[in-house]
Amino acid sequence: MLVPLFTSEIIAERVAVLGKEITETYQSESVPLTVVSILTGSIFFSVDLVRQIRLHVKMDAILAQSYVHHASSGEVLIKNKLKESPAGANILLLDDILDTGLTLKTIQSSLLEQGAASVKTCVLLDKELPPEKKMTHADWFAFRIPPKYVVGYGLDSDELYRNLPGIYELQDDDSGKPEDFVF
Ligand code: IMP
Ligand code: MG
Repeated sequence: MLVPLFTSEIIAERVAVLGKEITETYQSESVPLTVVSILTGSIFFSVDLVRQIRLHVKMDAILAQSYVHHASSGEVLIKNKLKESPAGANILLLDDILDTGLTLKTIQSSLLEQGAASVKTCVLLDKELPPEKKMTHADWFAFRIPPKYVVGYGLDSDELYRNLPGIYELQDDDSGKPEDFVF
């Protein structure tokens, strides 16, 4: 069952606010901001957010996977290199959701090791967890949510539901099949 959490309108409002804050943060920088999206989940968030950033931005992406079905696998598989070397770049790293923080922390550390001048992080959702289970925090997040499994607006359950315009909690998902009624 899908329980609505955030509508596309509410998401758009928050994304506009984040875009404004990010614009203000990087306004005085002389080099273009490099936005690095962690795919696939942050694809919708990224395209909406960059259009609210009133600065020159370069866009790049990292294909990463840490979740297998509904649980973290404990390791982050990074499947590609950036188009341009991160050396010297101001990077804004985007992800759909920060759970343990393993994904964000692993990729942030890797970009800094490759010589990025700065790597700030912005996520759509920040899942509430006991502090000892959080490996890192994001510089920005759109919404903080309880530790439930969520789908939509890029977030998937075994690759399904990404194209829902809003964000939903997925409950009692024993069938593994998409809900018919949402379409
Ligand atoms: P972390 O590495 O533990 O922070 O997990 C973050 C990654 O796990 C995200 O990039 C998502 O791909 C995935 N993930 C965590 N929670 C959810 C969820 O509730 N729905 C969909 N994907 C999730
Ligand atoms: Mg992800």
